[in-house]
Amino acid sequence: MAAQFDITKLMQTIPGLDVPNLKNSKGHGFNCFLYDGLFLFAPPTLLLKGKSPIAGLQSIKEAAMKDDDVIICAYPKCGTHWLWEVIEMLKSGVIEYRKETKETRMIEIIYKDGIDAIPTPRVLNTHLPLRMLPKQVVEKKVKCIQIMRNPKDVCVSYFNHYRNMVPPLGYEGDFAEFTEAFVTGKQLAGSPAVPVLDLVYEDMKHDPVKSVKDVARFLGLTTTDQFCEDVAFACSFKKMKQIDKDRKLGTAIDIWREGSEGTFYRKGEIGDWKNWFTVAESERFDQMWNKKMKDSGFKFTYTPV
Ligand code: A3P
Repeated sequence: MAAQFDITKLMQTIPGLDVPNLKNSKGHGFNCFLYDGLFLFAPPTLLLKGKSPIAGLQSIKEAAMKDDDVIICAYPKCGTHWLWEVIEMLKSGVIEYRKETKETRMIEIIYKDGIDAIPTPRVLNTHLPLRMLPKQVVEKKVKCIQIMRNPKDVCVSYFNHYRNMVPPLGYEGDFAEFTEAFVTGKQLAGSPAVPVLDLVYEDMKHDPVKSVKDVARFLGLTTTDQFCEDVAFACSFKKMKQIDKDRKLGTAIDIWREGSEGTFYRKGEIGDWKNWFTVAESERFDQMWNKKMKDSGFKFTYTPV
């Protein structure tokens, strides 16, 4: 059932929260607040209680890190669920899907108290940049794994994610409007100060076994080649999509629209963007990308090989 409240209006009633207008001329856009230079979402459960998300976000800096923690750092829709399941299996040494969801390990949802409550070994995940993460990430040199994906498929995946969510969480505009919001938004950055493994979604798709081995090596795990092959197979898109059907997200409200597939496991392909972008939209995207990211050195694979 759709949630009957206006998130932006709710946020505006919370003292000290900077709530910019991100709506386009048709009234479509994200319900975010601005914090430390980033547009962020607040858990609706918190807002409904009239509480500010700022204290929770600030508390993250003080969360205690453990030496064997691992943090997946990624822009949304780059394959976090996939990588999380891979790392959980590698670290536990058994081919077993987690009963809980990745969201129960998401730093910007659970804040300090939630992080502290998770038993070790912990595989956390986040879309936040390093400066907002626990101070001890740098002090203890916690292992971070960063996964990237070609931005056009990220855009398509993101659009489908939000258009399938109930109002007021979801996105009401069409793909062209979403793309415009996407190319004028912000990206997150990594840092060389902690041990970071950079992964690319498309590389994981091309050679999942090699990627699983790369992760295991980076984490210093002693795993057999056979076990890495088993993990790669168990974490293939088809398998994970099937398993996800039996898992409940556990959010206070049902976030997905009625009639939508209601899943993080949509298509899991390289190059689906070609089914969504018009030539003009693609050119506009390239133009914005080249303008903002030309010095980044990122190279992405846009089509299946
Ligand atoms: P699509 O929407 O293109 O299908 P995130 O986990 O960061 O939210 O990213 C979600 C994207 O990863 C979705 O992309 C989803 O289908 C894809 N994905 C999830 N599990 C996958 C897997 N095991 N193999 C390949 N892609 C996967």
